[in-house]
Amino acid sequence: MNKKIFDLFSRSFGYSPTITAFAPGRVNLIGEHTDYNGGHVFPCAIDLGITGAAAIRSDRTIRLISENFPETGIIEASLDEMIPSHRWSDYPIGVIKSFSETIEEVTCGFDFAFSGNLPDGAGLSSSAALEVLTGFLVRELLENENVSNEQLALIGQHSENQFIGVKCGIMDQFASAMGKEDHAILLNSDTLKFEYAPIPCSDAAIVIINSGVKHSLASSAYNQRRDECQQALTALQKELDVMSLCGLSMKQLNEHLHLIDNEIVRRRVLHAVSENERTLAAAKALEKGDIVEFGRLMLESHYSLRDDYEVSCKELDFLVDTARKHTGVYGSRMTGGGFGGCTVNLIRPYAAESFISAINSAYKKEYGIEAKAYIVRAGSGVCRIDECEV
Ligand code: GLA
Repeated sequence: MNKKIFDLFSRSFGYSPTITAFAPGRVNLIGEHTDYNGGHVFPCAIDLGITGAAAIRSDRTIRLISENFPETGIIEASLDEMIPSHRWSDYPIGVIKSFSETIEEVTCGFDFAFSGNLPDGAGLSSSAALEVLTGFLVRELLENENVSNEQLALIGQHSENQFIGVKCGIMDQFASAMGKEDHAILLNSDTLKFEYAPIPCSDAAIVIINSGVKHSLASSAYNQRRDECQQALTALQKELDVMSLCGLSMKQLNEHLHLIDNEIVRRRVLHAVSENERTLAAAKALEKGDIVEFGRLMLESHYSLRDDYEVSCKELDFLVDTARKHTGVYGSRMTGGGFGGCTVNLIRPYAAESFISAINSAYKKEYGIEAKAYIVRAGSGVCRIDECEV
């Protein structure tokens, strides 16, 4: 993988890169749509992601190429005009702008080459991986050792919120920046305190199934969910001294649900608060080695996302329903923002192959398309690829 990115850079720009690095995508095991409500999430970085090669320039030009978007060729931008162009390059350019605004002024340009193996628009955070990777490359090239990986996650989120215009939480960028091999991350999105939780790999395999559905409405519907949560919080704050929805227990919420007039908004908050409690319960179950209970909570999470938060779709529901009936499966749910994308399945390792073929034939029969499967391992966060095989 390293040689490939090294070569792409050299071929495109006519000289060798100074640095090559990798940033992973992520899969969220449980804790969905809680990270902008001050709640807990439980993602892990995966061993699919994006590699990048970069070098610093002496002028103020930024040049970017991606093997995944050959049609755009080399894109050129300038530090003096960093504005969105509604292409993939907005992700790295937004990060350079955020780096410049929040960390240190960037005064010289860069050349970048990227190549990824994450399916695009599948909810495995290819955008967060690209953001974290760019932040990392910039940090290393500027030799700014004061910037931690957590800060790289925050810079990525800042850019996504301000430059791209999606009001995402911190989960995706945090997982890509802070992942650890064979561990999930229990993250409190309010305080950014986190713990690594070992995944018992010999008992449970993580299988991702891509529905192949890409909903173009995903970002506007996402922002709409955020607004609904904000409405709920404002209504609840009339009587409760609470800073975010996930600061509430289900008991407190049930006692104050009457403060929210709108029935849809009421269901949104029921999801957020119950999902936060489920996430904490799931982390406890995993700690005790109770993967069966973890799987049950995953299914509950899916039903709540489907019925109360309404971010699933019929294809994802079908995949979860089919998975649930397979004897090797502990649990299954949609993962990520929703409206398409992937399911995450926790499976007895010996059953992974039979599960994948069962799901494939059922999905093909129902929708006439392949559901691509990935058996992934929880991997480490963004890092340099040290050994240049050239
Ligand atoms: C997207 C966002 C995350 C998170 C999830 C839903 O992936 O980028 O911040 O809100 O949706 O859990």
